[in-house]
Amino acid sequence: MTTAQTAPPPSMRLRELAFGAACAAALRAAARLGVADALGDTPMTAEDLAAAVKTEPKPLRRLLRALTCYDVFSERPDGTFAHTGMSRLLREDDPGSLRYITLWCTEPWTWDAWPRLDEAVRTGRNVVEDLYGKEFFVYLNEDAPESADVFNRAMTTSSKQSAREVAELLDLSGASSVADIGGGQGHVVASLLEKYPAMHGTLLDLPRVVDNADPRLREGGSLAGRVDIVPGDCRESVPVTADVYIIKNILEWDDESTARCLRNVIRAGGPKARVVVIENLVDDTPSMRFSTAMDLLLLMNVGGAKHTTGSMVSRLEAAGLVIDDIRPVNPYLHAFDCTVPV
Ligand SMILES: C[S@@+](CC[C@H](N)C(=O)[O-])C[C@H]1O[C@@H](n2cnc3c(N)ncnc32)[C@H](O)[C@@H]1O
Repeated sequence: MTTAQTAPPPSMRLRELAFGAACAAALRAAARLGVADALGDTPMTAEDLAAAVKTEPKPLRRLLRALTCYDVFSERPDGTFAHTGMSRLLREDDPGSLRYITLWCTEPWTWDAWPRLDEAVRTGRNVVEDLYGKEFFVYLNEDAPESADVFNRAMTTSSKQSAREVAELLDLSGASSVADIGGGQGHVVASLLEKYPAMHGTLLDLPRVVDNADPRLREGGSLAGRVDIVPGDCRESVPVTADVYIIKNILEWDDESTARCLRNVIRAGGPKARVVVIENLVDDTPSMRFSTAMDLLLLMNVGGAKHTTGSMVSRLEAAGLVIDDIRPVNPYLHAFDCTVPV
């Protein structure tokens, strides 16, 4: 155990920040080893935990000691380790689990890309195409299937957590069909179909993603009779007619892709279609450290960005949409409710 918990001086704080990769790596190691899953409500010694997760006890104690500095696990006076609010979130079975988000933020490709952040800032271009010779999502799905699975599971975790809030917020009475463009595994569309029992839904995403759609939407699922699953690339075309289009956490890539996706949705929906764009903003959020980090990661992988309210508005208006309303879904997520003009 360390001694006094006084705030470190700037010289030490900067050293700690410069070593931020060690903290991220320690979280990743704990998540991959399943340390949080092995620890229940009863505190355990490092030796017992090491036996449970099949590691050497001494290095596991060192890993735990590093993490306790950040309140991830705590060490008790008798030398045993216990859960904290944060370490519980590393458990796969925690209702608010962040295990896959933790893995996603620290996947192998991120460690290839971060050293090139200065290059991305200098050029304003993604670095992934230089690293792997192909677009990020193509690389992910063709060459890094484990990372693609982690991504899909991380997205599933965060969409499950926000899908209910999106469904609660959106009043779709009067509409008979909804399409979720780049809808991942379909949690938002499933929540909306459950809210509106007469509604028909469509989920469009890349083929490998919709192959793993939410079981409620797949053959034999409770909503299967009311949903079409469309594998496709929304930058190429959106072959879906619907009254309402949802585009959630998609318009974070390069401007040309954003413009093409919006153009295809507008063409598919036609005049009076409703288009609801949902995004985490970087100018109106209590999660500035997380959102700005994600913004830099987006610069490096897809040459994209998290939006400010203004940058989102200008892209939606440039595409020709009329913005009727901007509302928070929760403190971290905002909905831009738009209409295709007549
Ligand atoms: C950040 S996730 C958001 C998923 C979902 N909308 C949500 O909010 O949970 C981005 C999604 O865009 C999908 N995607 C990326 N490129 C795409 C493309 N060209 N066409 C369709 N979907 C795409 C990814 O597969 C992924 O599911």
